[in-house]
Amino acid sequence: MSSASTTAQTLPDGVVTLADHEFHARGLLDEAVWAYFNGGAADELTLRANAQAWQTIELLPRVMRQLSGGHTRVNLLGREWPHPILVAPMAYQRLAHPHAEQATALAAAALGAGLVLSTQASTLLEDVARTVLPEPDRGPLWFQLYLLPDRGFMKTLVQRAEAAGFDALVLTVDAPVQGARDRERRAGFRRPADITAVNLVGRVAPSPLSLRPGQSRLFDDLMTHAPTWDDIAWLRSITRLPVLLKGVVHPLDARQALSCGAAGVIVSNHGGRTLDTMPATATLLPRVMQAVAGDAPVLVDGGIRRGTDVLKAMALGASAVLVGRPVLHGLANAGATGVAHVLRLLRDELEISMALTGCRTLSHAAATLSHA
Ligand code: FNR
Ligand code: LAC
Repeated sequence: MSSASTTAQTLPDGVVTLADHEFHARGLLDEAVWAYFNGGAADELTLRANAQAWQTIELLPRVMRQLSGGHTRVNLLGREWPHPILVAPMAYQRLAHPHAEQATALAAAALGAGLVLSTQASTLLEDVARTVLPEPDRGPLWFQLYLLPDRGFMKTLVQRAEAAGFDALVLTVDAPVQGARDRERRAGFRRPADITAVNLVGRVAPSPLSLRPGQSRLFDDLMTHAPTWDDIAWLRSITRLPVLLKGVVHPLDARQALSCGAAGVIVSNHGGRTLDTMPATATLLPRVMQAVAGDAPVLVDGGIRRGTDVLKAMALGASAVLVGRPVLHGLANAGATGVAHVLRLLRDELEISMALTGCRTLSHAAATLSHA
């Protein structure tokens, strides 16, 4: 398998939607890398449901309203940003293009999109921060974490993210173990040895415990290192940055997140990559919104492929959305240019759908829903 299957930097003709980006990227990427990027868990029901659920929600426009002076700006964690679209944390972007996370960061910053850098990024977090922070019209810059058994290392990693200038931390809580990613295994995906999680170099991984007969590798070994609610207090105690929890879907967990001091929650099923047959995030979002009751920002990801999807998420109460796979497709297709194009398309489509529904600002988005 070639590690970065493409080095393209110019966009092919006829790519005018995120679906076009996906189609084109498929032709460029190695089959196993494609399975890793685009696949989901098990029968991929949740993966498909995510996109379908946004499509099923209907918009009901109002006409002839005064729209001049309208805008897409949003407030998030005490700051105003150009629009509500962030790039979701995604590991090992060097698999898509040699410019990797740097290209994604450059494009996000130029387009005013937020960027959540994966803990498993194939680029140093300091380099990404140096690319994003000087851009005056950038979006939020957040660092994603998994709870690491090596707490000393994790503390150093958090301190590095703070020192580099990241605005917030995102702790991903929905993947204490990898889902049953059958498509990926069938395709025989193996990460090339030269593409690594460079920010995690030096951490001590626990050696496997020797189990007694009848013990489970998962429960009696792996899960002894999995995050629990008590760890949120510890994480908060070692950082001054706000901490958001990603992968919260149950209304009771959303409440618990807030009582543990989380600054916000991200409703996510990991893009259908963890537990298959979970509901689509468009279905989960309203339940979480109700539980959170305006006490903290709620973001959402999974299956956002159109500006209308962004508008619908905002209409259901989200403070912002994260976009995953389409960014990898843009990256594979044309590096930073491709990612910028993907983000530009979403932003343009969002503005068009606002104008066509009679929605001047996103604080009025709720009125665009047909069932509103
Ligand atoms: C992910 N996702 C993810 N999430 C996370 O918290 N840390 C990570 O390192 C990764 N890595 C990752 C790699 C790849 C290849 C994909 C596709 C996804 C999940 C990601 O942040 C997000 O939740 C989903 O991708 C959103 O769904 P869509 O937009 O891809 O449908
Ligand atoms: C994934 C892990 C890295 O979804 O979160 O591939």
